Amino acid sequence: MQEQLELLIQEAEQEIAQCSSPNDILNAKAKYLGKKSLLNSLYGKMKELDASQRPAFGNQLNQIRKQIEAALNKRATAIKEISWQKDRAEFDPTMPGIKLERGGYHPLSIIRNQINEVFLSMGFEIAEGDDIEDEFHNFDALNTPADHPSRNLADTFYVEDGKLLRTQTSTVQIRVLENYKPPIRIISPGRCYRNDKPDPSHSPVFHQVEALVVDKGISMSDLQDTLQNFASIMFGPQIKSRIRPHFFPFTEPSAEMDISCVACAGEGCRVCKQSGWLEMGGAGMVDPAVFDILGIDSEYYTGFAFGLGIERIAMLKYNIPDMRILFENDLRMLRQFQGEL
Ligand code: PHE
Repeated sequence: MQEQLELLIQEAEQEIAQCSSPNDILNAKAKYLGKKSLLNSLYGKMKELDASQRPAFGNQLNQIRKQIEAALNKRATAIKEISWQKDRAEFDPTMPGIKLERGGYHPLSIIRNQINEVFLSMGFEIAEGDDIEDEFHNFDALNTPADHPSRNLADTFYVEDGKLLRTQTSTVQIRVLENYKPPIRIISPGRCYRNDKPDPSHSPVFHQVEALVVDKGISMSDLQDTLQNFASIMFGPQIKSRIRPHFFPFTEPSAEMDISCVACAGEGCRVCKQSGWLEMGGAGMVDPAVFDILGIDSEYYTGFAFGLGIERIAMLKYNIPDMRILFENDLRMLRQFQGEL
């Protein structure tokens, strides 16, 4: 027996000394100390021995286990040292480093943040709404009749259970009017969805900024003033603005907002299709019917609302000729905004 143990140690030490990788060490450890090792099976033999011999034999086995463990640890450390030495020898401090690309905001995010800043500076607060909405907040509460064409499957993406992807940020007008008492002065930037084919000026996903102001004595001139202020800060003091009659179910009177062409200063060019004006979005005085649906006293309060297209503004600011460019995210386009906040 003693001979067998001597041999075991010798064999183990020899094999461990030849290990050349952490994996070799693991294999040797399994072979000499693992469940199926000779050493482990010898522990099982203890019960065959006379009771008086057991403690000495057990001690001896423990000694052997410790010896093998020590040899494994020593060899593992040596292997690590060798590989460090190799790394150090191969390390070339003159080698060029890995170039880290600098990120940047997407142009739509940059413009959205700028728009937010302009309105925050005018005393507006930011209110956020959800992309998935119900028919009540996207249509009914906005005074949109049940047979209105915009409710068609061809125009609106329906999810399940009367839920839909909001077609406009005007949903947030309703959410805010449900939850807050006037005076209200909010903007709400966000994503909208319509079942449109992508083309140079349409995308099934796009962004709007809604504005809603409700208080006693709010009038159309407050709307015009706010629009002009926004246009001057966003595009420059030379920019003019105007509103033209239009129709929306939830505003009365309703209007479309234009600013003078940022490319030709109103002379007429390709960007403004020779008209001198650029469309910015829809607007109007909140229809008293909307206040009535939500139980707000329309005898006492008046308000205005408008919705601006963020893509339109980004395209004008950055000279982007086709809306699809904003969604394709070609790296050549995105790189122009590297490092921009
Ligand atoms: N929600 C309208 C649209 O998407 C724009 C709008 C907003 C009109 C607010 C009036 C008031 O076309």
